Amino acid sequence: MKVIVKENYDEMSKVCAQMIGSKVKEKPNIILGLATGSTPIGTYKELVKMYKEGQIDFSKITTFNLDEYVGLDKDNPNSYYYFMMENLFKWINIDLKNVNIPDGKALDLSKEVEEYENRLEKSGGVDVQILGIGGNGHIAFNEPGEYLNTKTSVVDLTEDTIIANSRFFNSLDEVPKKAISMGIGSILKSKEIILLASGKSKSKALFEFLTKDRITTYLPVSFLHLHSNLTVICDKDAYSLVEESCLCKKN
Ligand code: F6R
Repeated sequence: MKVIVKENYDEMSKVCAQMIGSKVKEKPNIILGLATGSTPIGTYKELVKMYKEGQIDFSKITTFNLDEYVGLDKDNPNSYYYFMMENLFKWINIDLKNVNIPDGKALDLSKEVEEYENRLEKSGGVDVQILGIGGNGHIAFNEPGEYLNTKTSVVDLTEDTIIANSRFFNSLDEVPKKAISMGIGSILKSKEIILLASGKSKSKALFEFLTKDRITTYLPVSFLHLHSNLTVICDKDAYSLVEESCLCKKN
């Protein structure tokens, strides 16, 4: 595992975008795994900038998003489809036929998750997966608990996540309680993973992950220890508890 600690959110985003940008240049038909939420917005902004400057061509890429809320239409401003359009897709030359995001409004959700996982498999697999991390250690919507799903599934969101995500909604009641999420196994099949973490609210989960070389379903991010090509890019705030514990060991 490689860990890159940057001064702040903007620096973190630039490093991540540079990495993604050079990978798209190397392999124009790359398959990218994408996340939503506050964390990757800066990375997407940088990628849009690079596109506008003529540095990258996205016309041949394929994307798979990690998750989507159950019950929200594509044109609902809180859906992850809408998020991706607003923050990335509508500003670059991606072919929307190559965009894959689970359909949270599918009538048959069991069929939807099965088909999503099949599509992922048939594509040959994600080349580079971008991940954020929940304050509770979740990745995608694989929430801490007794079990974790290996494949794409319909999941119940924990109270922590519902509260954390309510900042985008008018009220807590409006936050969907279920989502479709890639499973831990689906994520681990990616050839390369970049985990982004920014801000103090991520410091505890990042500390638990980076300082303990073990896996537990109660800290879903810990399963990334099983991946052989993982880069963590974080800012100083997210890294603060790890930094403190290193200082304590030195003194
Ligand atoms: C989003 C996702 C989630 C977020 C995580 C952090 O597609 O899979 O796991 O990455 O909840 O969210 P933010 O970035 O909003 O703190």
